[in-house]
Order: sequence, then structure tokens, then C-alpha cells
Amino acid sequence: MKAIAVIPGQANSVHMTELGSPCLSSIPNGRGVLVQVLQVGVDGTDKEINAAEYGGAPPGYDFLVIGHESFGRVVEVGPNVRELKPGDLVTATVRRPGNSIYDQIGTYDMTVDENYYERGINLLHGFLTEFYVDDPEFIVKVPSGIAHAGVLMEPMSIVEKGIVQAYEIQRRLRLWKPKKAAVLGAGAIGQLATLILRLKGLEVITLARRKAPNHKSALIEELGATYASLEERSYADHAKEHGPFDFIFEATGSSQIAFESLQYLEKNGVLCLTSITGGSLTVEIPGDQVNLDFVLNNKVMFGTVNANREYFEMGVRDLATAECEFPGWLSKMLTHPVQGLDQYKEMMNLLINDSEAVKVYVDVSPL
Ligand SMILES: NC(=O)c1ccc[n+]([C@@H]2O[C@H](COP(=O)([O-])OP(=O)(O)OC[C@H]3O[C@@H](n4cnc5c(N)ncnc54)[C@H](OP(=O)(O)O)[C@@H]3O)[C@@H](O)[C@H]2O)c1
Repeated sequence: MKAIAVIPGQANSVHMTELGSPCLSSIPNGRGVLVQVLQVGVDGTDKEINAAEYGGAPPGYDFLVIGHESFGRVVEVGPNVRELKPGDLVTATVRRPGNSIYDQIGTYDMTVDENYYERGINLLHGFLTEFYVDDPEFIVKVPSGIAHAGVLMEPMSIVEKGIVQAYEIQRRLRLWKPKKAAVLGAGAIGQLATLILRLKGLEVITLARRKAPNHKSALIEELGATYASLEERSYADHAKEHGPFDFIFEATGSSQIAFESLQYLEKNGVLCLTSITGGSLTVEIPGDQVNLDFVLNNKVMFGTVNANREYFEMGVRDLATAECEFPGWLSKMLTHPVQGLDQYKEMMNLLINDSEAVKVYVDVSPL
């Protein structure tokens, strides 16, 4: 079976390799599910893994098969699988449970274990291959009506978690009816955050670097949100016009922007950080002023990573709602298809160099 892998620790090592076919019986108690991979999305994490900034090979291997954003079709199920059947369209969660109490109750995205296992990222092979086997606990059915957007399920789950966590945190207020939100970043994560917040009826401004019009700004405006360029005006100016914000969802990859946001939160507001900032940038902030403002106005900042099954299931429902509310919008997010695993060099090239790309994905097998 063909697979796209890297050698962890060795920069620019992406290559094609051979992997043995997965076996249904590798999952105990007749609970195996064999899935044919149809599409796999790639993102900044895959870029960082290929740059040797991140990632580990599974025990017994010197390579890691990458790809954690999967969409596929069930081919065969073990005798004790009732919840899925051959032909079902599915996605798969990424992290697998470890030992902590959070792992044991299904919230493995909240693990406090030092080492964690993530398919395509750390210690487990990913989905940029032809078939995989997993336990149905980690496989989520995708209705055929949204098959064309199934490859967006994993990034959608990340955004669902960030937004659900913000609402959970705000239960401290007994009543929280956010009206104004800022989304920072108009990549895949920023687009999906804008989508979900618009589905919730919030007024949203989405900030990115480049001037409008461009494809990302057009997508944002189709959702009835406002696109704002930081090349044209400062964040402070945009915040003066549109803020302060009850909710800020940060997804730029820039800790500079993340910390500048502290100043533009509304009283009782909440700031959600999602960027994986692998660098070593130091940011200066007006510490006393921000501290006082956070204390006197009951503000919250939190981080979020990964997503468990619950957030994938929410993602399915919101993708379906999105297709009704904004028909055709999800397809326009899928900007850069790559035909087949053989084209892995093009995949990595688009991922690294094409600033127009909202989502690069590989068509592994026909839908
Ligand atoms: N926490 C998690 O579990 C999780 C999961 C997945 C991804 N992430 C993180 O989420 C972040 C966003 O991911 P993505 O795939 O959407 O990234 P992306 O496609 O690279 O998009 C980044 C967006 O941020 C904008 N941007 C970058 N630097 C900026 C700056 N200094 N000021 C203003 N805007 C800036 C870019 O603007 P232009 O469009 O104008 O270039 C772009 O719209 C990444 O840091 C990624 O690591 C986190």
C-alpha cells in the first residue's frame, strides 16, 4: 500500500513509502473497521512535521505516515461492530486515549499525559495512505449529503471545540449573549470559526494580512461577516471601529496578534487561542494595564487543542446546517485539490508556498 511519510527529525524528508495492508483483527474483540481513504486534507501541522519541528515515528518504525484530516468509506467491519456498515462515509478523530483521567472519560483532547498519541502527528501512522483500520469509537459517520465537504471534518472539530469551550467558560456569567466577535486569521480555521459564529447569529469581523478583494475575503463576506486587512489599517483602528469584542477567536499563527487582542475584549469577554506557535518570538505588552483591565472586567483568555468525538459530531451537524444556510460555500473552501498520493511533492509545495490556498487536500480515491 502506498503511503506518504516523513522521517521525524529530518527536515524536508517527505517521501512515498510502502506500508503493509492493515488488518481488521488488529483491533481486539471483533471491533475493527476497515476504511478506504478517499480524501486527506493537509495543514500547517503537516508543514511543521516535514520541517522536523514536530512529530514522532510509531514504535518500531523510523518513519511516520502523515495526514490527520481524513475522509473515507467503510469497506469491512468486524463481527461486533453494530454502529457502522460497509459503504458508510466516515472521518476519524486524531488523538487516541492515554492514561490520564481525562483520557479515561473520553476527553482525550484534555489529556495531562506527557506523551500523547496522534494519528499522523505523533507515534501513530496517519491517513495519507490507501486504507486504515481503527476502532469505531474513533470513527464518525458523515452523511452522504455533505460528502463533498467531509474532508473539512477535522478542522471543523477544532473550531467546534474552541467555541464550545468558550460558551462553557462563560456559564460563569449565568447569562452570556455575545453580539460581537473578532476572528483572527482567514485560513481554514478562521473561515470555519467565522462560519460557526455566523450560524450562531453573531456580528463577526475577520482579520487577516492581505488586502481585499481576494478569495479569502470573498468567502468571509459571503457569510455576512466583515473582512479586514491588517495591511490596510492597524488592528487598533479596526477594533476602534468594530469592537470591543465579546468573543475573540485567534487563529493566525502569530502570538503578536494574540496578545494585542487582550486590549480589545469587551467587559466579561473571552479570548480563545488556537495558534500553534513553534517559534521563540518575545512579545511586549502593557502588562499593568492589561492585568488591571482583566481583573476589573472579569475577562478570560484560554487555549484549546485537538478535539474528541463529541466535537466531530457537532461538526457534522454544523456542516449540514452550513450547507442549507450558505449553499455551495463549503466547496469554495476546498481551493487546492491534488490528484493522488503520487503528487505528494505538489501537495507540500502548495502547502508551503501558495498563500491563496484555503485548503489543500489529496484526492486519494474517487468519492
Ligand atoms: N489548536 C489546535 O488544535 C489547532 C489545530 C489546527 C490548527 N491550529 C493552528 O491554527 C492556526 C491557523 O491555522 P490555519 O490552517 O487556518 O492557518 P493558515 O491557513 O496559515 O491561515 C493563517 C491566517 O492568519 C493570517 N495571518 C497570519 N499571520 C498574521 C498576522 N501577523 N496578522 C494577521 N493575520 C495573520 C493569514 O493572513 P493572509 O490570509 O492574509 O495571509 C491567514 O489568513 C495555526 O497557527 C495552526 O497551527 C491549531
